[in-house]
Amino acid sequence: MQGQALLWRRGGRRVVLVPTMGALHAGHESLLRRARHLAGQGGVVVASIFVNPLQFNNAHDLACYPRPTKSDRAVCQGAGVDVLFMPGTGAMRKADASTWVEETALAAGMEGAARPGHFRGVTTVVAQLLNLVLPDVAVFGEKDYQQAAVVRRMVRDLHFPVRLVVAPTVREPSGLAMSSRNAHLSAAERSRASALVRALQAARKAARSAAGVSGGGLSRLKRRLVAQMGQDARAQVEYLEFFDPQTLKPVRRLVRGARAAVAARVGRTRLIDNVGL
Ligand code: PAF
Repeated sequence: MQGQALLWRRGGRRVVLVPTMGALHAGHESLLRRARHLAGQGGVVVASIFVNPLQFNNAHDLACYPRPTKSDRAVCQGAGVDVLFMPGTGAMRKADASTWVEETALAAGMEGAARPGHFRGVTTVVAQLLNLVLPDVAVFGEKDYQQAAVVRRMVRDLHFPVRLVVAPTVREPSGLAMSSRNAHLSAAERSRASALVRALQAARKAARSAAGVSGGGLSRLKRRLVAQMGQDARAQVEYLEFFDPQTLKPVRRLVRGARAAVAARVGRTRLIDNVGL
C-alpha cells in the first residue's frame, strides 16, 4: 500500500483517504462521495476497511461487529472509490508490537471515560493508516465528533502532512444518526432510538433561548432530557454532555455554539450522537 501511495504522490496525484471499519451505510457513502469530489479527476480515492481490535474494549462487541464484505465492496464501487484497502490484523500490528499513539486531553472525557483505551486504539491505527496510505486529505464523519477532534489534535501535534475534512452526520428520516451499529437494533428499538436525537434537539432549542441555560437550570434540563430518553427510547443513558466544541470540556452555561453529545444503550446496542447547539 505504501509503495503504491509513494508512486501516486511522485506522480502528482492527490490521494484522499476515508478510513472505516466497514459495514458501510449511507453515512459512509456521503464521506466517500465527498472524497471523490475532493480527489478530482486525476486523484485517487482510497477507502480502508479494518475492524481495529485496539479500539474495542469489549471482546463481545468486537466479535459481533458486522463484516458484510460483499455489500461494502458494492458501496465503494458505487461511490467512485479507486482502491479498497483491507489489511489483515497481523499485517497491521505484529504480535510483539509495543508502540502506541495517544492523545491525552481531548480524549479524556465522554467516549474516552466510558470506553477506557478506546481513543488510544483509534489514534494508533489512524496514525498507521496515514503512514500507509500517505493521503493529502483524510475524511472523517462528524457523527464521531470527539474522534474527529482527537485525530485533528494528533495530526497537529505530530505534524502529519494531511488535511482533515469532517463531513456532516447523515440521518434516517426519523432523525436517528446512521451507524453500523443500527444493524443490531430490532425494528421497535430503531423507531424508539430516534428519541435520542429529539433530546439533543430539545437542548438546542433551550440553548437558543435569549439567556441560555445555566446553574440549576442546566442540571434540571439534563435530568429532564435523560428521563425523557429513558422513557421514550427505553434507553439507558451513559452520558449526556454539553461541551465546548474546541476544548470538549463541559460548559457551565448552555448557549448557542456549544455542542451536545449522548451515549446510550437501546436494548443491547450502544449508540452515540451529537449536535451543534
Ligand atoms: O470511525 C471509525 O470507523 C474508526 O474509528 C476509524 C477512524 C476507522 C479507526 O479505526
